[in-house]
Amino acid sequence: MTEQQADGPAPGEIPFGLLWGIKRSFVAYVRRMPDGQGSIHDGAVPLGENTILFPATEATSTDGDTFAFRGDVRFRGHGGMLFVRVAEPVITVRGDRAELSIADPYARVDADRVPLVTLQLAEGPAPEGARVWLGSDVRLTEAGAVLFNDVYQPGEEFEQLSVILPLAD
Ligand code: HEM
Repeated sequence: MTEQQADGPAPGEIPFGLLWGIKRSFVAYVRRMPDGQGSIHDGAVPLGENTILFPATEATSTDGDTFAFRGDVRFRGHGGMLFVRVAEPVITVRGDRAELSIADPYARVDADRVPLVTLQLAEGPAPEGARVWLGSDVRLTEAGAVLFNDVYQPGEEFEQLSVILPLAD
């Protein structure tokens, strides 16, 4: 597969934002397709082989209830039949579970955001000057299953994630 990439954070810089690998087996599937393609736009950057950094936007609230990120990751393959876009992820805490939604994958005007996965979000140990939340038990939603051609069932496990934000003054 061919990949388009931008530069990541400099060594020693904390990668503020959402760090997520989406689903490794899916990325591996696209990588082994002869015509598979991955591209990264709108500020997202790859960190290593399996993680994408989606930088935080100003819409992220300080109360830890809504985390909004920019970035747009697209997978293509099978002569154009496969197209998956994960863009503008937003994590919203709803009671004891959180939901990660994405922009409408087909960029339709006025289309609703799509809930992609639900997860357990808990604050964890952070480096100096930062706060960290860890997302575990990341599970595909029904709407998310449709985006993957119903190959995965709702409840399919996706990669764990982390959110790293600068400590408010
Ligand atoms: C020409 C049409 C397609 C063909 C021939 C095809 C073929 C296959 C095959 C053979 C596998 C299992 C083998 C492997 O892992 O390499 C697979 C897995 C999969 N396909 Fe497709 N596929 C097609 C279209 C699509 C489309 C449109 C989607 C939508 C996103 C999709 C999503 C998936 C997913 C999510 C998996 C499972 C990957 C994993 O986690 O292991 N496929 N497909």
